[in-house]
Amino acid sequence: MSRRRFSDQVVFVTGGSSGLGADTCELFIQEGAKVFVTDILERDIIKRLGADNACFHTCDVSNPEDCENAIKACVEKYGRLDVLFHNGARLPPLGDVVQHDVKAFQDIISTNLNGLFYLSRVAIPQMREQGKGNIIATASISGLGGDYGLSSYNAAKAGTVNLVRSMAIQHAKEGIRINSVCPGYMLTPMTQAMQDSAELGEEFKKVIPMGRGADPKEIGRAVLFLASDDASYITGHALTVDGGTMAHTGFPQYTNFLGSG
Ligand SMILES: NC(=O)c1ccc[n+]([C@@H]2O[C@H](COP(=O)([O-])OP(=O)(O)OC[C@H]3O[C@@H](n4cnc5c(N)ncnc54)[C@H](O)[C@@H]3O)[C@@H](O)[C@H]2O)c1
Repeated sequence: MSRRRFSDQVVFVTGGSSGLGADTCELFIQEGAKVFVTDILERDIIKRLGADNACFHTCDVSNPEDCENAIKACVEKYGRLDVLFHNGARLPPLGDVVQHDVKAFQDIISTNLNGLFYLSRVAIPQMREQGKGNIIATASISGLGGDYGLSSYNAAKAGTVNLVRSMAIQHAKEGIRINSVCPGYMLTPMTQAMQDSAELGEEFKKVIPMGRGADPKEIGRAVLFLASDDASYITGHALTVDGGTMAHTGFPQYTNFLGSG
């Protein structure tokens, strides 16, 4: 029998019309939720999800007014807010800090980190009033370690992991749990250029112990777990869902050079 852990619950999603966001909206709806989908583009997401269980509102998460208005519009539409799944983000152009344009760095911090602050400061009072709430932010394993050419992305995702921890401890006694999910390499539109390179694909297989990228639904199911009562004693956590990538030190495979036994 399928589970319906989110019956009568309202879930607010950013970056909800593509990739992980869209797939997670679908999973929440399958478990009984109404979903308030936000993004900078609609991309026919309501056609996909069905207008009975979802509605769309434009929200650029780098804009504090957009964030405030969107949360208010959600509460106006559905009368409550149970889960905030903050997921909208983008990749910068690749390059080291010398090559990275100042404005581009600021834009990535603004989109990939600041949005969580803008949304949470409006969502938390609503959740507090309801006596319970849940925030899940999509961070990344790129918030736990560094990548070549992705300084602003690394900084923003690390900030997300720690902003989550700070908010989690401050609002724990109010019944609000706040966690981040840290995906590894996911097969979504964001990584299309990487997927298009067969050689890079082989490199990814080498560094991911499971030898493949994630279907975004494999991350979405972790988001639903964190948002559900199954995770009732978990807050301030950064949950890696990465096929084992972060379990590896990054050192070479000794056995290929030194033999084993
Ligand atoms: N794909 C990966 O390998 C990977 C790995 C780790 C973490 N992530 C994270 O997962 C999340 C989802 O990404 P995805 O892989 O599904 O990519 P995606 O490009 O399919 O989805 C990202 C979504 O964010 C939206 N977005 C971009 N800028 C925005 C803004 N200013 N305001 C609101 N929305 C905005 C996009 O329109 C898009 O719908 C992101 O936070 C990303 O950083 C992705």
